[in-house]
Amino acid sequence: MATSSAQFASEFSNPNLEVLLSEEQIQARIKELGTQLTHDYAGLNPLLIGVLKGACFFLSDLMRAIDTRVSVEFMAISSYGSSTRTSGEVRIMKDLDVPIEGRHILVVEDIVDTGLTLSYLLANLHARGAASVKLAALLDKFERRQREVQIDYLGFRIPDEFVVGYGLDFAERYRNLPFIAVLKDPNAD
Ligand code: IMP
Ligand code: MG
Repeated sequence: MATSSAQFASEFSNPNLEVLLSEEQIQARIKELGTQLTHDYAGLNPLLIGVLKGACFFLSDLMRAIDTRVSVEFMAISSYGSSTRTSGEVRIMKDLDVPIEGRHILVVEDIVDTGLTLSYLLANLHARGAASVKLAALLDKFERRQREVQIDYLGFRIPDEFVVGYGLDFAERYRNLPFIAVLKDPNAD
């Protein structure tokens, strides 16, 4: 079988990546958000809803920084479009397994870009009779917003660049980076 050295090269030090947020910066910010959430949700038994797949990394670190009783569920949503731009059409691919009437919901998302996915999802969850629906997002690419979305707990505002790592992918690649980086050339190997 033919192999190339590129297959064995380090992904974390890939020269096509420019680090935007280090692992230390991300983890420190998550600790702060966790402290805030511990305080805000004490006694409310919130249900954290992670949006697959990108938010899993943020969700698992965030949850472990929240020191009060919490539950977790997952949803999968697809927004049609190319790999670097969303089209605005949204569809639920995996729904919740539990009713959320009367529950305090915290949606956990990797990034808010145009806001199309989140504005659809938050309205959908509100319509199910939740007691409250709030949003925690690691990244806010605010310059690209098309729909207003209130981010109640935000990690970082970032410029309009395509980023990967810490759950965020380009064509399913780079989710495993412990940091967030700008992908310099999407066509490079
Ligand atoms: P929105 O509906 O445009 O706000 O974005 C929805 C989804 O697009 C996000 O949940 C991500 O999965 C994806 N996305 C947006 N910007 C980026 C990026 O810079 N890198 C990787 N995925 C992104
Ligand atoms: Mg996503």
